[in-house]
Amino acid sequence: MAHVLIIGAGGVGGVVAHKCAQAVKSGRVFDNITLASRTLSRCEAVAQSVTARTGVSLATARVDADNVAELCGLIRTVKPHIVCNVALPYQDLHIMDACLECGVHYVDTANYEPPDTAKFEYSRQWAYADRFREVGLTALLGSGFDPGVTNVFAAWVMRHKLDEVRVLDIIDCNAGDHGLTFATNFNPEINIREVTARGRYWEHGEWVETDPLAFSMEFDFPEGIGRKKCFLLYHEELESLVTNLNGLQRARFWMTFSENYLNHLNVLGNVGMTGITPVPFQGREIIPVQFLAALLPVPASLGSRTKGKTCIGNLMRGVKDGQKKTVYIYNACDHEACFAEVGSQAVSYTTGVPAMIGTKLIAEGLWAKPGVWNMEQFDPDPFMADLAEYGLPWQCVDVE
Ligand SMILES: NC(=O)c1ccc[n+]([C@@H]2O[C@H](COP(=O)([O-])OP(=O)(O)OC[C@H]3O[C@@H](n4cnc5c(N)ncnc54)[C@H](OP(=O)(O)O)[C@@H]3O)[C@@H](O)[C@H]2O)c1
Repeated sequence: MAHVLIIGAGGVGGVVAHKCAQAVKSGRVFDNITLASRTLSRCEAVAQSVTARTGVSLATARVDADNVAELCGLIRTVKPHIVCNVALPYQDLHIMDACLECGVHYVDTANYEPPDTAKFEYSRQWAYADRFREVGLTALLGSGFDPGVTNVFAAWVMRHKLDEVRVLDIIDCNAGDHGLTFATNFNPEINIREVTARGRYWEHGEWVETDPLAFSMEFDFPEGIGRKKCFLLYHEELESLVTNLNGLQRARFWMTFSENYLNHLNVLGNVGMTGITPVPFQGREIIPVQFLAALLPVPASLGSRTKGKTCIGNLMRGVKDGQKKTVYIYNACDHEACFAEVGSQAVSYTTGVPAMIGTKLIAEGLWAKPGVWNMEQFDPDPFMADLAEYGLPWQCVDVE
């Protein structure tokens, strides 16, 4: 049995805590859970909800995950087998350093990003591979939905449905409505940095850059969602998938946004509120997007008001038994059902469930392999079985 230390008690951290507790209750894998974050009261609120829903008690702690010495102090006191990092991407390297120093496995859901540059790439985390390998520890990168499940979907399709893949389109739809004028469904600062960045996709062996949200397409989503406009973004799983999937000629990532969301974002961008460069304000410096984030609702508060579904999946075109074949593999998730189960909206839920599953598979030894890995580098079958069992059932259909 394993002791898991969850770092980050926001929207995603709340779901990871509930899901780990469900595993504890069914006598599986974990016997102890500690939830630590910067604001102790948020950990305590999650712990209360977990106990009320599952009867399982969690320990809570305060930690600044930007401080490696403080993290090591916590890890040496708590003595976990594995750390599940669902704080912000800025903390990834500090938490990896602490895991190496204290000898514990590591899982995250988002690629490291330096606070002063809105750019993510895996090189900084892949550079830890030798150190993790030498001490026999596993670091699993991007165990959320996208990245995360989308990488595992790709590996599963390559094992069971296609012999070769030519084209990959990852398509992320949030058809939910929280009824607020403007809010982001995961951390506002990270969300706005991602959406306002330049687009990028992979074609014929090289990256092609685009202006932010310059390309769009319509896609007809299943489960009653229907046709929606999707915009091309750069997303981190493209980097590992074009490295690990042989034969890809084109790989792109798409996301739906409402007209209302885009209008607000445009206006905020036009007046400089989405910027990440410090500006002087009343005798001190502030970063506009951080000030904006402080005004917006925290993602964990959206659960009670969000209705509708998310639908995230991969459209993959390739060859099977010498014939051209296209498959669409996806999960659809209902915001209100997530709220009823764990008190969160579906974007936090679809990230927190795979974060728990990646952590569980390492703790069980099925995905324990010294080094630093992306999700598609492991056997997809146990992960896909756990997805269905822990609340994210999936479908794979042939497309004409
Ligand atoms: N792969 C995917 O599919 C996917 C999808 C959505 C989100 N994500 C990732 O999931 C992570 C969490 O997102 P979220 O929506 O849960 O964000 P959130 O609601 O803003 O929660 C972030 C949590 O991290 C804590 N935190 C921030 N800085 C910290 C520090 N220095 N030390 C300790 N704790 C710190 C925050 O503490 P305070 O309460 O004190 O602010 C908060 O509890 C993000 O990295 C996001 O990019 C991944």
